[in-house]
Amino acid sequence: MGSKKAKMIVEKDFKVSEVDKRIYGSFVEHLGRAVYGGIYEPGHPEADENGFRKDVIELVKELNVPLVRYPGGNFVSGYNWEDGVGPKADRPRRLELAWRTIETNELGTNEFVDWAKLVNAEVNMAVNLGTRGIDDARNLLEYCNHPSGTYYSDLRISHGYKEPHKIKTWCLGNEMDGPWQIGHKTAHEYGRLANETAKVMKLVDPSIELVACGSSNRSMPTFADWEATVLDHTYENVEFISLHQYYGNRANDVANYLALSLEMDDFIKSVISIADYIKAKKHSKKTINLSFDEWNVWYHSNDADRKIDPWTIAPPQLEDIYNFEDALLVGSMLITLLKHADRVKIACMAQLVNVIAPIMTETGGPAWKQTIFYPYMHASVYGRGVVLNPIVSSPKYDSKDFTDVPVLDTTAVYNEEKEELTIFAVNRDLEDSLLLESDIRNFEGYKVVEHIVLENNELKQVNTAKEQAVVPHSRGDATNDNGIVTASLPKLSWNVIRLKK
Ligand code: AHR
Repeated sequence: MGSKKAKMIVEKDFKVSEVDKRIYGSFVEHLGRAVYGGIYEPGHPEADENGFRKDVIELVKELNVPLVRYPGGNFVSGYNWEDGVGPKADRPRRLELAWRTIETNELGTNEFVDWAKLVNAEVNMAVNLGTRGIDDARNLLEYCNHPSGTYYSDLRISHGYKEPHKIKTWCLGNEMDGPWQIGHKTAHEYGRLANETAKVMKLVDPSIELVACGSSNRSMPTFADWEATVLDHTYENVEFISLHQYYGNRANDVANYLALSLEMDDFIKSVISIADYIKAKKHSKKTINLSFDEWNVWYHSNDADRKIDPWTIAPPQLEDIYNFEDALLVGSMLITLLKHADRVKIACMAQLVNVIAPIMTETGGPAWKQTIFYPYMHASVYGRGVVLNPIVSSPKYDSKDFTDVPVLDTTAVYNEEKEELTIFAVNRDLEDSLLLESDIRNFEGYKVVEHIVLENNELKQVNTAKEQAVVPHSRGDATNDNGIVTASLPKLSWNVIRLKK
C-alpha cells in the first residue's frame, strides 16, 4: 500500500465568504417517527413535562443546529396549520395524504417553537401552497409574528403564547414542481402564486425572508426552466431559491458514489447562474441567494417503505440506516456547501430525527448517533467563521459518471475571533492514504490542537442502538513544522485538522 501526495496553500486573505450559520440547518417534518416517537414521546423515561425527549434534545444540541425547517416537506402541501394549535383535546385527526398516515395534530406550531427554543435553534417555517394559498399564509404569519390586537395574534395569545414567535425565514411551499406534490403546479402557476403570497406576507411582516421553491432535484425534466420562470415572477419579493438533492449508492460503485458531491457542486453553480441571469434580465441590484433546504443520502429505506400499511400513526418511514461510506459522502456534501458559502446561505440536512436522520431513537429506548452524525457535527461546531479558498493540487481519478475527480476534497474555515483554523478533508482514495501538505505560513503561531479522523475497514459498517462501530478518533498525525502542516489522511477517511494560535 503506497501513499499519494496532495498539496494546498491556505491564505487568510483568499476568502470565499463568512459562513452563514444557517447552512448547518436541519429539518423536522411530520413524517414517520420524526415528530411522534422522535422529538416528542410523552411517557418515555427521558421525556420532559411537555413530552419532549431530553436525550434527543442533548444530541441535537451536540450538533449545534441553528435552524430547523418545519413542518414539511411534502406534508406541508396538505396541512391545515389551524389543526395544530389550541387545546390538544379539540385538535382533529386527519388523513395525511402525502405519506398516507394518520396525523393526530398532538404537536403543532407552538409546541414546535417551544422545542426549537430548547435546542437553541430558529424555525424555518413552510407555508402550504398546495391545497391552500395567500390567505392561509398571511394568517399563519399573523398568528406567529404579529404582537397583539388582531384576530390571529390574539388567538395565539389565547393559546398561551403572549410573545410573538418572530420567525424570520419562511418557505413558500415545498417541491411544487413535483408531480407527487399535493397541489403540483406549473412554473408559471407556482411563480404567480408564490409572488402574490410573498407580497402579502411582507405586508404583514416586512422583516421576514422568503424562500421560493426551486427544483426537487437536478434531474427533474423542468430543471433550469423552472428556476428561471419562478424567479422571473418572484425576483423582487423573495430572498432565496431552494435546492433539494438526495444521493444513493444503488449500483454499489463506491468511487462513483463518493464523486457525487461534484454533481452537487455543479447543481449549485447552475442555480447561481440562473438566478444571476434573471438578475441581469431585470437589471436588478438585488442578488438571490440559495437555500439548499433538503440534502442528504436517501435510498436504504426505499424497499421497506413500500411495504408499510397506510393510515397508521407515525410508522417507521424513511428510516435509512447509514453506513460508513455514506458519512464520507455527507462530509463531501458539507465541504461543497462551504465552498459556496458566498451564495448558499441556508442549508438543511434532511432530516434530523429518525427520518433519513443523523439521530435515531428506539421507542421507549435510547437515542443514538448514525454514522453521518459525525461529519455534520464537526462541520457545524468547527466550521464557523470565514471560508477560505485554498489552492489545491491533488491526484485525480475517473469514475463511471465523472472525470478528474480530486482524490482530496477539502476546504478551510478561519475563525478570526477564536483564532482557529480548521481544515476539513475527505480522502476519496479506495486503496491509498494521502499525504497532505498544507502551507499555512500566513497563520503564524498556529499549532495543531487536534486531528480528528473518521475511518473504518468496512465501507458498509453501520451504527446501531447497541453499538457505535463508526466513531471518530483523534489520533490523526497532523503536525505543523514552521507553517507547513503535514498530515496523512487514511484511505477513505473524513478528517478535521484543528489549529489554534
Ligand atoms: O425529506 C423527505 C421528503 O423529500 C420531503 O418531504 C420532500 O420535500 C422531499 O421529496
